[in-house]
Amino acid sequence: MLPLTLVFLSCWALVDAGSVSKGGNCTQADSRLQIGTYQFFDDCDSVTYCASNGTCLLKGCRKDEFPFGYATGATLPPLCPSGQFCPDEADVCQAQLTVGSPCQLNRDDECEPPPNAAELADTTNRGLNVDGAVCLNNVCMWANKTSGESCTVENTAYIAYGATGEFIDIVSRGNCVVGLYCDSSALQCMAEKDLGASCTADKECSSWNCLASGVCGVDTTIPKHVGTWVYVVVAIGIFGGIFGTLFGLFILHRRQRDQEREKRMQYWREQNAFHQNLLQMRQTARASILSFPNNGNSARSTMYDEAPIMQHAAPKSSGLRNYLADDSSDEGMMMQPSTRDDGRF
Ligand SMILES: *[C@@H]1O[C@H](CO)[C@@H](O)[C@H](O)[C@H]1NC(C)=O
Ligand SMILES: *[C@@H]1O[C@H](CO)[C@@H](O)[C@H](O)[C@H]1NC(C)=O
Ligand SMILES: *[C@@H]1O[C@H](CO)[C@@H](O)[C@H](O)[C@H]1NC(C)=O
Repeated sequence: MLPLTLVFLSCWALVDAGSVSKGGNCTQADSRLQIGTYQFFDDCDSVTYCASNGTCLLKGCRKDEFPFGYATGATLPPLCPSGQFCPDEADVCQAQLTVGSPCQLNRDDECEPPPNAAELADTTNRGLNVDGAVCLNNVCMWANKTSGESCTVENTAYIAYGATGEFIDIVSRGNCVVGLYCDSSALQCMAEKDLGASCTADKECSSWNCLASGVCGVDTTIPKHVGTWVYVVVAIGIFGGIFGTLFGLFILHRRQRDQEREKRMQYWREQNAFHQNLLQMRQTARASILSFPNNGNSARSTMYDEAPIMQHAAPKSSGLRNYLADDSSDEGMMMQPSTRDDGRF
């Protein structure tokens, strides 16, 4: 959380740079490190620096790969070659400084590395030193102090902003070798503490995280790893959800299908009974007509004939109706009258 806050502060401070453009008047006495952020500030804008004759001139070098304040595609001043550095003013590249020379705050790269730089260099990405060299209290030195040796410490109080408002973030740096820290009161190099040990500052913990409760916590930069059982539970959850849904839908649709089939069966039975009734009615009518001796039956026979009645019933049928009409061989079913009448037809 803290580095993020500091990055935010740095960006804010850069926006707060001077406004005098190239060729304008400036005063070198105004050049300073901003309170709270320790960002370098001068009267000149972000592409110029304040020269010794009081004029803003274009910067002669840059220390960042992507410097702030340049338009896209603009010509950037050069990065300094190995063995040289670009100071905060960014006027011109200078040769690295020997041990004991004055250097600028947090500019370990301004100091000449020790002969055993590869051995002393900080590879933890915590800004402990640059190639084994460190700038403490504006003096170049090497981070070569071993356990129990007296060391130099530099405490810088930054103003930081969090959810609860403004607070002071003290960054404490020393010249002990990587893996040791410079104790602020004893001024001796001590071994970094393991997880759970009591601490008063982040630098004391090998995890670089001293919790508010005063013990070394887990390194906040390492990704969280979950147990295998979590993967198993998640996998079961996913596949259980998929197959549960499929099975549930299958059951639901089967029930609906059964209900639909039952409806059709009932319709079929009712129509069958209806058809049976008609047949009986026709036979009754025919029998009664035939019982009249001299009555012409050609006109009435069309009235009771099967065909017109079937045609009339056709639009209401559902396909099963036709199937039934064609399949008159199933006398067993046809003889069963419907006992249910729920008015759905
Ligand atoms: C810059 O300073 C010179 C004298 O030191 C003055 O004549 C000139 O007007 C100043 N320019 C601006 C823009 O203030
Ligand atoms: C300051 O120096 C630069 C280059 O050295 C020069 O171009 C500029 O005119 C000088 N300005 C003044 C006010 O002397
Ligand atoms: C440790 O670094 C200092 C400079 O900070 C140097 O003078 C000294 O010789 C170094 N000691 C060793 C053992 O390299």
